[in-house]
Amino acid sequence: MERTLILAKPDALQRGLVGRLLTRFEQKGLKLAGLKLMVMTPEIAAQHYEAHEERPFYPGLVRFMTSSPIVAMAIEGIGAIAICRKLMGATFGCNAEPGTIRGDFGVSNSFNLVHGSDSPEAAEKELALYFKAEELLEYDLNSFQWIYDPVEELGQEG
Ligand code: RTP
Ligand code: MG
Repeated sequence: MERTLILAKPDALQRGLVGRLLTRFEQKGLKLAGLKLMVMTPEIAAQHYEAHEERPFYPGLVRFMTSSPIVAMAIEGIGAIAICRKLMGATFGCNAEPGTIRGDFGVSNSFNLVHGSDSPEAAEKELALYFKAEELLEYDLNSFQWIYDPVEELGQEG
C-alpha cells in the first residue's frame, strides 16, 4: 500500500467542488487515511513548493495557495501516487483530458483545483507537512475485499 497527499486547492473549495473531488478518489477504490480543512501558511507553502522557488509562477502560486482554505487528504491504495495523478489529469486545465478532475472542472493553468504528490519521496515529505503521525489513521476498509483480489493483490487466503 502507498499513501499520497492530495490537496483540494482554494479554487476547489470556493467553487463547492471538494465533495466531488473526494468522491472521485473514493469511487476509484482508494482509501481515506486523513482529512483536514486548513489554511496553507506561507511557511508550509515555502516548504511544499521549494522546488519551484525560482520559477516565474512561484509568487502567484504561493499567493493563490495561501489565499483561502484548502482541504488536505491522505489517500491510500496500491499504486496510489500514480493512480491519483491520472485521476487529476494534466497540470493545465486547458490540456487535461475529459474524465479527469482538471479536464472536467477547470480551464486555468494556475487555478487547477487539485494537488497530488508526484513520487514516494514527495508523498512522504508532503504528508508530514500537513498531518501529524496520529492524524493518519490505520483501519480496515471492508470494501478492499471487493476492490482488490484478496489472494492475488492483498495476499490473503480466500
Ligand atoms: P501539483 O504539484 O499542484 O499537483 O501540479 P503538477 O505537479 O501537475 O504541476 P507542477 O509543475 O508541480 O506545478 C505546481 C503548480 O504550480 C502551478 N503552475 N502554474 N502558470 C503556470 O505556468 C504554472 N505552472 C505551474 C499550478 O497550480 C501547478 O499545479
Ligand atoms: Mg507538482
